[in-house]
Amino acid sequence: KLKIVTIGGGSSYTPELIEGLINRCKSLPVTELWLTDVEEGKYKLEIIGKLAQRMVKRAGVPIKIYWTLDRREALPGADFVTTQFRAGQLEARDNDERIPLKYGVIGQETNGPGGMFNAFRTIPVLFGLIEDCKELCPDAWIISFTNPSGMNAEAVRRFTDWERFIGLCNGPVNMQKDIEKVLGLTKEDQLDVKFGGINHMVFALEVKVNGKDVGEELIDKMTGDGIRESLKNIVDIPWSEEFLKGYGYYGIGYLRYYLQKQQMLAHCMEEAQDQRNRARVVMEIEKELFRKYAEESLDIKPPELEQRGGAYYSDAACNLMDSIYNDKQDIQTVDTLNQGAISNMPDDVVVEVSCRITKDGPIPVPGLMLPIQAAGLVQQMKAFEILTTEAAVRGDYRKALVAMTINPLVQSEQTARKILDEMLLKNERYLPQF
Ligand code: NAD
Ligand code: G6P
Ligand code: MN
Repeated sequence: KLKIVTIGGGSSYTPELIEGLINRCKSLPVTELWLTDVEEGKYKLEIIGKLAQRMVKRAGVPIKIYWTLDRREALPGADFVTTQFRAGQLEARDNDERIPLKYGVIGQETNGPGGMFNAFRTIPVLFGLIEDCKELCPDAWIISFTNPSGMNAEAVRRFTDWERFIGLCNGPVNMQKDIEKVLGLTKEDQLDVKFGGINHMVFALEVKVNGKDVGEELIDKMTGDGIRESLKNIVDIPWSEEFLKGYGYYGIGYLRYYLQKQQMLAHCMEEAQDQRNRARVVMEIEKELFRKYAEESLDIKPPELEQRGGAYYSDAACNLMDSIYNDKQDIQTVDTLNQGAISNMPDDVVVEVSCRITKDGPIPVPGLMLPIQAAGLVQQMKAFEILTTEAAVRGDYRKALVAMTINPLVQSEQTARKILDEMLLKNERYLPQF
């Protein structure tokens, strides 16, 4: 018996997960998949549950699919618990994206004030889930996609004693595919990338092909038309050749929010004015997707799902479960404690880093260092994350104010206070801790 429980099963990404499980049915022989959601997601959960049943039936794979609004009914004896819930639904994301803009600050679901409030809403739910897991599936691994993925992992490792928790992002998987493309690699080539940083601020620190370092070649080939932004949710404002070559490392697209701040802010403002901010766009995409998912004749993952930012989500989640289950010892990028892997980050903080994946979990690959052009920013962001988790867990207004003020997208006590106060009010019903 191999049982997976997915929290937030009504997510439109679930068919991608099902497809991933179907593709790996030999090495990861899942017998039960339980999808759980909350009342607001009931309608979506039912559509997804039925589609999942049709998908496994078509594939002829013996996975039993269950769904319930009571996670305690689902959890007993789970081997893996995956999370993909969105605390506060897309409406809360819409607020996260729009409110900071009123004060001239970028609004984004995992960055700046928006990311902070996403953490405030999400961390209490996650801690409740962990309490249930302690009781009902104490040996389970929690594989957590819910954003803000890095801060959630930081909160769990800092404030709970649950060790089998791994944060996950599809970003590094996408970056690795970009690298393959830019370098024009074939199946015979052995690509070896070492990632390091924090969630949504991660870098390819080492790039080797067939044992040879090709870091410089990669950057050379990325200038000009070499690479377009591959994450669908991030606007593709190009980097100049001088900057990219000077910087010397391929970083995740989210870096644009920090190093192309004015342009990104202007872009966010334009979109919000036309009701085209990402939450609104995703609401529309979702409507279409669920109309499609509800069709009885559909029994595969529809290609329309590729319009979402979470492409290759299932590869990341399923490969991770596969490697833990089979003690594969391969290298994957996850969010876990640094333990000395990145020399210029503290040992006891959560980083996003290449790890060897074993049956006992991820072991970070040692010997990495952030270059000076990135180190300061990553360290500052980690300070922001730690303060945010402290504020989230204790409901500490002062810590929240300091966290928001030191965030590189804010950098003003007065502005931070205004945003904080408005967002606290707007999110009141999701913030029992404040
Ligand atoms: P969504 O808005 O569709 O939410 C998913 C489901 O969660 C919904 O059905 C909703 O009803 C449910 N939900 C809300 N609160 C819940 C709770 N307390 N318990 C259980 N279920 C709850 O979101 P989505 O667009 O599918 O994204 C889901 C999550 O995954 C988000 O947090 C998103 O940011 C994240 N995500 C992360 C990555 C990554 O790289 N880590 C990639 C893609 C998506
Ligand atoms: C990227 C990020 C995810 C994020 C997603 C948003 O893939 O890695 O963390 O959730 O994009 O995509 P969306 O389609 O919801 O805007
Ligand atoms: Mn991500």
